Amino acid sequence: MLTAYDYPMATLVDASGIDAILVGDSLGNVMLGYDSTVPVTMDDMIHHLRAVVRGTKRAMVVGDMPFLSYHISREEAVRNAGRLMQEGLAQAVKLEGGIEVAETVRAITNAGIPVMGHLGLTPQSVYQMGGFKVQGKGEEAARKLISDAKCLEEAGVFAIVLECIPQQLAKLITESLSVPTIGIGAGVHCDGQVLVIHDLLGFHSDFKPKFVKQYANLKEQIIEACRQYTKEVKDKSFPGQEHVFNMAEEELKKLY
Ligand code: KIV
Ligand code: NA
Repeated sequence: MLTAYDYPMATLVDASGIDAILVGDSLGNVMLGYDSTVPVTMDDMIHHLRAVVRGTKRAMVVGDMPFLSYHISREEAVRNAGRLMQEGLAQAVKLEGGIEVAETVRAITNAGIPVMGHLGLTPQSVYQMGGFKVQGKGEEAARKLISDAKCLEEAGVFAIVLECIPQQLAKLITESLSVPTIGIGAGVHCDGQVLVIHDLLGFHSDFKPKFVKQYANLKEQIIEACRQYTKEVKDKSFPGQEHVFNMAEEELKKLY
């Protein structure tokens, strides 16, 4: 699984043969320039989901439920999950948390909506966790994660994202579940992996968590392309004769 947030990127990610595209609330950071996912709204999610779905022919599209869209009440959670499906055209939703959201997961799946769980580092709770750090360290925290994963499975999730936890714990959780785990910063023993597409492509090389592998350096390529364009506009080597339209000499004479 990879994220995508707009039409052109979705067409490319989909064409690569990926199984699933996540329209993550990480769009708050990646697309909107916020420093957390907390400001992201339902309307933001729907706007980006619709664009991604228009660009996707074959992958499953999963939409993140944003901050506070599933905490106020079960009714509101089901209604918001339904909006991501009906208005955003998502095929499944993802939400963060363990036992505290289990009843909510149950209610949403009861409405016929597939739910993906998300445990470990859950960025919507970053202020409570005191920063972006590895989760599930120590026996108590590890046991809590294992039982949260079981709770989610019993509540009906079809998969669980494990973010930023020790690889040994991810392995143990993966082995103890029948639904697939999808890791990010959780090691190779998960059933699948997910990355933020802009991290993988090297759009912003100043931000690189340990778990990211950069498969390209688009930041430098984009800056260099823009630099070259500006240079050629200034020295008038762009536009060239191959980029222009001409009019007949006699037509032109009439205008003088
Ligand atoms: O919002 C997101 O991109 C995510 C993934 C990193 C799992 O939740
Ligand atoms: Na997210």
